[in-house]
Amino acid sequence: MTTNTTTIQEKRQGYFGQFGGAYVPPAIADKLQNLAEEFYRIKKDKEFEKEYIELLKTYVGRPSPLFYAKRLSEKVGSKIYLKREDLNHTGAHKINNTIGQILLAKKMGAKTILAETGAGQHGVATATAAALFGLKCKVFMGATDIERQALNVNRMELLGAEVISVTQGQGTLKDAVDFALGYYIEHPDAYYLLGSAVGPHPYPEMVGYFQSIIGKEAKKQILEVEGKLPDSLIACIGGGSNAIGLFKEFLDDENVKIYAAEGAGEGLDSGRTAATLNLGKRMVFQGADSFCLADEDGNPIGSYSIAAGLDYPGIGPEHAHLNDINRVEYHGITDKEAIDAFKELSHLEGIIPAIESAHAIALAMKLLKNKNEVTIVNLSGRGDKDVVRM
Ligand SMILES: Cc1ncc(COP(=O)(O)O)c(C=O)c1O
Repeated sequence: MTTNTTTIQEKRQGYFGQFGGAYVPPAIADKLQNLAEEFYRIKKDKEFEKEYIELLKTYVGRPSPLFYAKRLSEKVGSKIYLKREDLNHTGAHKINNTIGQILLAKKMGAKTILAETGAGQHGVATATAAALFGLKCKVFMGATDIERQALNVNRMELLGAEVISVTQGQGTLKDAVDFALGYYIEHPDAYYLLGSAVGPHPYPEMVGYFQSIIGKEAKKQILEVEGKLPDSLIACIGGGSNAIGLFKEFLDDENVKIYAAEGAGEGLDSGRTAATLNLGKRMVFQGADSFCLADEDGNPIGSYSIAAGLDYPGIGPEHAHLNDINRVEYHGITDKEAIDAFKELSHLEGIIPAIESAHAIALAMKLLKNKNEVTIVNLSGRGDKDVVRM
């Protein structure tokens, strides 16, 4: 966990230590290479940055507040600050990434935007950004997720997107990504707006970059109120975009401990989980060398979590790396623990979290009991979509 390790390894383009890369068919290899070049170009482009930041400010409503959760803190015995990504336009962190990528897509001349979605938050954020820029939008969503996140399906359709039900496999996020990648290979002129820090290069790096606004703001905000860095950070992990968005800015601050909550579903030993870094194996999965849940022969298997956004057997390569170098600790949080935290936060603070974000709250309640630490928990989204199921 040294600064040098992180910095040197990240220099191998598309890799985080030994993980990452772009394992894709030739039909899209050139497209992704071109996308990577365009991404590196806009990263240095001050005009692009100005346009992006202006939209985050006036359209998304950034900076999102850092809220001191007093009653939760008293109950837990540590000082808990919530980074309020739930207050963003469309209700989650996903919009930070879609605004960045849609600006890039527009500059690259795209007419149609493709996206996958699990909880529907990325689908809504993509449909929103596409409407804002007058682009056609197709969202692929597993049939199981369409049922359990119905509110977001209605929102996407109202925003003018076509929602395509994916019935293959378990009808969850993995299947939606498989289908979207397949569709993209057949329609390489479309722009594939991936919603998490997963998949082939440049997506993990690009999504992490657009989400890093979370940690940049949080660092400034905590220094303002506490006059020092936090003792720890906590976020939930599906593919890993809200987590890397918060963590990135603090990775070189060695005294800041970093924890992430994977969906442990019915328990780490139950066979029904989404706890990839706790239980998975290293493999090439959906375009990148990372970790994935696997059977005894090493073949990828499906996942389970009550939270559609965490119900994904893979994980972004940067997280595989951060786990490998022991910079971040990855813990499993069960459905039950998440539901309890969902109710606890609602009662104690008047904030109904997304069931995904409730996993991060549950981990804070578990790890920080009477520790008297200052921590920032990323409240990645709001719970409107989950209210009817709890
Ligand atoms: C509110 C919320 N939090 C977290 C996630 C997990 O995604 P990621 O790990 O990319 O942040 C999702 C995914 O849909 C989500 O909707």
